[in-house]
Amino acid sequence: MAGVDGGRFAGKVAVVTGGSRGIGAAVAARLAAEGAAVAIGYRSKQQEADALVAALAADGGRALALRADVADPEQTRALIERAVSEFGRLDVLASCAGIEHFGALEDITPADFDRVFTVNTRGQLFAVQHAAAHMREGGRIVLTSSVSASRAVFHHTLYASAKAAVESMVLNLSAELGRRGITINAIAPGGTATDMAAENAAGYQHPQLRDSMPLSQWLSVHGALGRLAQPEEIAAGYAFLASDDASYMTGRTLRMDGGFF
Ligand SMILES: NC(=O)c1ccc[n+]([C@@H]2O[C@H](COP(=O)([O-])OP(=O)(O)OC[C@H]3O[C@@H](n4cnc5c(N)ncnc54)[C@H](OP(=O)(O)O)[C@@H]3O)[C@@H](O)[C@H]2O)c1
Repeated sequence: MAGVDGGRFAGKVAVVTGGSRGIGAAVAARLAAEGAAVAIGYRSKQQEADALVAALAADGGRALALRADVADPEQTRALIERAVSEFGRLDVLASCAGIEHFGALEDITPADFDRVFTVNTRGQLFAVQHAAAHMREGGRIVLTSSVSASRAVFHHTLYASAKAAVESMVLNLSAELGRRGITINAIAPGGTATDMAAENAAGYQHPQLRDSMPLSQWLSVHGALGRLAQPEEIAAGYAFLASDDASYMTGRTLRMDGGFF
């Protein structure tokens, strides 16, 4: 990786939603390491977000953090406008904020549906709307789907379908944004070692296997690489889609799942 001054994102400005922890934090760090000024949005973990901003600044980067719950599009708009007013432009949106959900059909409530789709789907659409308003030709938008969008898992209907909608979103928005020279793609991560995975990974196992097979063994049976990803490995995919190297890629979802089968 080149230094902060000479990297692929030198002189560019990125907004990362869900940047306080996990994949989003790794994306923010990667973009900053390659020269971007980064505005990090978070929902509740201000200390983590501030610590990341301090670490990026200590490495010579430019960063800020702002509370911005993507469930409220006006907060997302405020984050994006703050990035533009502080850093002067907007080149990259990495939309990483997301929440998990497991629940059997009979237990899903309308409130569950609204919460899961509001953050994972609606939140990403309005992040695109507000970011695109500030982008020029060459703008890059990267949303977050999941391997779950294309794999059947017990009791995962809400989360998986909210993420599947994101894949259709990038496909359809690519047409209108492409006319302005802006690309939009998604990353579909597989299991990645974050707080979300620590809290939910066992849910991916078939219920009849949960008690008899440790998660690590299950992962080694169902993944070509046999392990969870590190957030930094997934962040490399966001950085690729956000870079000029991906200038002819739009409307697509890049699966980074370690060969999950
Ligand atoms: N980890 C995996 O195995 C995996 C696999 C496939 C897809 N994904 C997707 O990858 C993305 C990142 O996941 P992760 O594993 O890094 O999750 P995580 O460790 O749980 O971190 C979630 C991040 O999203 C933020 N966030 C949650 N709800 C938000 C809201 N309403 N508004 C703004 N920010 C919000 C959190 O902010 P706070 O810190 O302030 O709470 C945090 O920064 C998500 O979209 C997730 O669905 C993850």
